[in-house]
Amino acid sequence: MKPIQVGLLGIGTVGSGTFQVLKRNQEEIQRRAGRGIEVTMVADLDVARAKSIVGANVQVVDDARKIIANPDIDIVVELIGGYGIAKQLVLEAIEAGKHVVTANKALLAVHGTEIFAAAHKKGVMVAFEAAVAGGIPIIKALREGLTANRIEWLAGIINGTTNFILSEMREKGLTFDDVLKQAQALGYAEADPTFDIEGVDAAHKATLMSAIAFGVPVQFDKAYVEGITKLESQDIKYAEQLGYRIKLLGISKRTAAGIELRVHPCLVPIKRLIANVEGAMNAVMVHADAVGTTLYYGKGAGSEPTASAVIADLVDITRLHTADPLNRVPHLAFQPDAMSNLPILPMAQVVTSYYLRLRVADQAGVLAKVTGILANADISIDAVLQREAGEGESHTDLIILTHDCLEAKMNQAIAEMQQLSTVLAPITRIRKEELN
Ligand code: HSE
Repeated sequence: MKPIQVGLLGIGTVGSGTFQVLKRNQEEIQRRAGRGIEVTMVADLDVARAKSIVGANVQVVDDARKIIANPDIDIVVELIGGYGIAKQLVLEAIEAGKHVVTANKALLAVHGTEIFAAAHKKGVMVAFEAAVAGGIPIIKALREGLTANRIEWLAGIINGTTNFILSEMREKGLTFDDVLKQAQALGYAEADPTFDIEGVDAAHKATLMSAIAFGVPVQFDKAYVEGITKLESQDIKYAEQLGYRIKLLGISKRTAAGIELRVHPCLVPIKRLIANVEGAMNAVMVHADAVGTTLYYGKGAGSEPTASAVIADLVDITRLHTADPLNRVPHLAFQPDAMSNLPILPMAQVVTSYYLRLRVADQAGVLAKVTGILANADISIDAVLQREAGEGESHTDLIILTHDCLEAKMNQAIAEMQQLSTVLAPITRIRKEELN
């Protein structure tokens, strides 16, 4: 049988990895897919560079629409990124009857509903393993491996740049700004790292995982997003003293009232495996009723790890493209007419526990007033740590860990504590998850 023909839109880091791995492992891949898979066309604005990567046997063009218009191309791989031209090209490829593979989490988290509907109508597949956690097959696991289960929650380190920054801040006691510069010099962080450090990239990925885990539409606009830019080294140290590491987590939980979907820095017990995921690595924990807790770990970015995910999708499509569309695995794991309308909860309705750091006057009665406010709000304290005031200092730091409570109640308690004349600086609040 003639090989399935693939057109790459963009041949940067992931595109060139895809080309190399497909070529290197072509025999193994063909034995698995039952048919060869070949990149026969590439579109890139830098034609000369693209040619130097793929050689003379692959047609290189500077116009992506030439790939979409080519009737011999079966699968279009979109590796352009962003919501602009990438969205148009994906929709045009679907309209032209091509199957699509994409690593574009931003596009799917924001415009997924429109794109999946278009693909459903046309009877083509849109596969996106590479969009979440790079080489870790987490989409496959959530959509197929765990299909027997009622998934209860998932929590993941799904942005390598921020995990690298947090690891360096903790191990070397450096500030956020210093480590960010280092991450950029090492090529981990983008020249404009805003999406990484502000939690947006992680929220795109959490949105996609949440949709597949719970069978709800992608709703990035409802996600709570908080990055790591305000995190201070002293909180990382205090957390460590209390037995916790701070990680930027993407979390999604099913509750009776709706779905929690949030990205923020989070204290995690050091004894959990996920707390020990360091550097640019990714990991996702999933808790489901039958299987219990599972953990997926690996490289969340990079040329060949991400290519591994792109090619897994190419193999899936090669195996399934002749199947009746109704018998294929649904894009979001649940049949399109069986999606749930459970709401994504506003942050005020989320239930979690907290780390609070208060800069307070070192005077009698301060602790009593602070704990009194928490008691009035029915917020139970789990642990308290007080830094010994330094020589000549008239203030100290009070660190409080709480048990679970409603975020709205904690907002109110923090506002009241902030009013105390003995609380000398803005209160630091970091959420905490036991993940047990
Ligand atoms: N910028 C992402 C990260 C990789 O740092 O994990 C691609 O999603």
